[in-house]
Amino acid sequence: MNYSLENISDYINVSISRLREEKRKKDEFEEIKKIKVDINELEPVLDVEESYQRGNFPFDPLHIINGDVEEGFTKSDYVIEGCINTGGQEHFYLETQAAMSEPRPDGTILIKTSTQNPSENQLIISHALKLESSKIEVVTDIIGGGFGGKETQSNWCAVWSAILANHCARPVIMVLDRREDMLITGKRHPVKITYKVGFSKNGKLNAYGAKFLFDIGFSADLSRSIIERSLLHLDNSYYIPAVKCDFYPCRTNKPSNTAFRGFGAPQSIAAIEYIMEEISRVTGLDAAVVRNRNFYGKNVRNRAPYGQKIKDNIIGDLYKELIATSDYSYRVKLLKEFNRSSKWKKRGISMVPVKFGISFTTSFLNQGAALVNMYKDGSIVVHQGGIEMGQGLYDKMMNVASREFGVPKSSVRICSTNTSVIPNTSATAASTGSDINGHAIKLAIDRLKNRLNDFISFSYSWNKDDIEWKNSFIFSKKNPEIRYPISEIIIKAYLAQISLSEQAYYKTPGIHFDRVVARGNPFYYYVFGLSVSEVEVDMLTGAHKIIRTDILHDAGESLDKLIDKGQIEGAFVQSAGWTTMEELVYNNKGALLTASPDSYKIPGIADIPQDFRVNLYEKNPFNAGILKSRAVGEPPFIYGLSVWLAIRNALTYFNKKASRLDLPATKEKILKSAYSYVESDKK
Ligand code: MTE
Ligand code: HPA
Ligand code: MOS
Repeated sequence: MNYSLENISDYINVSISRLREEKRKKDEFEEIKKIKVDINELEPVLDVEESYQRGNFPFDPLHIINGDVEEGFTKSDYVIEGCINTGGQEHFYLETQAAMSEPRPDGTILIKTSTQNPSENQLIISHALKLESSKIEVVTDIIGGGFGGKETQSNWCAVWSAILANHCARPVIMVLDRREDMLITGKRHPVKITYKVGFSKNGKLNAYGAKFLFDIGFSADLSRSIIERSLLHLDNSYYIPAVKCDFYPCRTNKPSNTAFRGFGAPQSIAAIEYIMEEISRVTGLDAAVVRNRNFYGKNVRNRAPYGQKIKDNIIGDLYKELIATSDYSYRVKLLKEFNRSSKWKKRGISMVPVKFGISFTTSFLNQGAALVNMYKDGSIVVHQGGIEMGQGLYDKMMNVASREFGVPKSSVRICSTNTSVIPNTSATAASTGSDINGHAIKLAIDRLKNRLNDFISFSYSWNKDDIEWKNSFIFSKKNPEIRYPISEIIIKAYLAQISLSEQAYYKTPGIHFDRVVARGNPFYYYVFGLSVSEVEVDMLTGAHKIIRTDILHDAGESLDKLIDKGQIEGAFVQSAGWTTMEELVYNNKGALLTASPDSYKIPGIADIPQDFRVNLYEKNPFNAGILKSRAVGEPPFIYGLSVWLAIRNALTYFNKKASRLDLPATKEKILKSAYSYVESDKK
């Protein structure tokens, strides 16, 4: 190679500064080696009750008060008190946490990560590297599942790989193996709930008081928002005249617990649903009847404890339909006959509704943006801020673009999510992915079509309002016989120097929430649905099987029926795992002992209901939704509670005084509940 004098001096200068830098790092390392660390190991706090007693709260507890609970208890025919525990849950996304960072010659850095939250990866890396966000490009392709576990926990790998890559001036890939992932990352919050409820002979709730202790792990992470969503779902689908509930964020020496499908709602809904079964047990009324009597009304008894009016409430309609289609009353009769003649095997049934609020409760997060580009051949690329993690977002977004442009889905491509193209994105979370990004895409397409319609109207002398885009053609409604391929129009528009690219921004309208007093309209809308599960429990082994599950779910005018059914089935099975088999066991130092699939059991093929009937309620399009749809991601997770409560119901046929059944209802817990009173009787 020939060097000019100038080049050689450059080369030497670079080499000298590199050597100096290496020496500096070496010296620094020698200095660091001189540090002596004295570690004084403290007793870990692993129990929420202990953390609560010590007042170990990294942020203020949350409270909700509405009406007068004391008065409610006084006027009640029955007042009962109790306690239940809900367990944690490992996300078990198929793809573990992973990130790749690549420093670029211009001082910027490219990060490809498996995340639900590219903009937060970018922000954390910007802090760690002291680099402006604009110089950090985070790109995310389709990821192998998240379930909430990659909303903040993806920051670890992203920031570690970025620091290493920056330091070594080389690309760095970091992938956690399953064990590391299970040990390090946070999980669903375990919660201990103590409650007191007052109700009338007819099963109607009068007052609900409860204390929720959330095991948040070692740091706050998303716990503030998670506890808030829990608070906002303590009512599930029921009108409760008086409420006083307190929520404590209890710090423990465990990994920092985090978002997981449902985001705190499943835990508080578990409490009120358990209470519904208790009311049925005490009053002797069928639990479905008790639930029906407590449902929110359409025009009365329709305000949530935090003040939002429950509009478009269809829970009563769903109830009537599912009671009929699931043959509920007849099967309860059969089940009772079975239980009379079977000594060791008992059957139980439980109906669990859901009302799930859609919107981030942190109101400002409800925003999204999109960029839609058309090419000269008429093909389309969509950039948007959402992440595809298996929930079918890309397919749904393709459906939006293909329906709006009147072209086949195959002409639309959704690009990987990129912080340099769509900035300041919210996490793909809170089930809002298709709403927020879908609306933004539609707005961008509306603008692009509007511009092109001006051109078409001018070119063909058609009235602009009559122009239709359908089946890859444009035509005027007035004279549909004359039509032109869309691809032909696009190239014409290009030649006429009309931009074929458009950007749009969407924010969810009309929501607000005052965190201090826990009042407002935090949700754009609610999703409703209903499930019934029947189980058979073997009282000698504690094993159970799900004989049949029926689900009726309202996804509005579904953006994709197959995907929505898949989401409902998946959420149900994932939740049945949480409610009946997944158990996290720690040693007395707080180390997770169940950090692999041999010791941590998630549902398998044999754990799916033997007869599984999932149906979409198709009579209730949502006009203010994206193409009249409703979100689907998280709400169906609630249905898995019906398995746990059906087991509880079966236990009451075996032993009227069966002790409380915590969640997960593992074989051990089922046996303990079945026999605990028998054991104590002997003592
Ligand atoms: N489905 C699959 N297959 N994989 C996932 O990681 N995450 C769930 C749900 N469904 C998840 C999933 C969670 S926690 C949420 S919040 C939503 O999808 C997010 O996507 P959406 O807003 O597009 O529904
Ligand atoms: N759901 C999921 N993720 C979130 C939320 C929420 O309500 N708020 C902040 N991050
Ligand atoms: Mo979902 S828990 O909001 O990522």
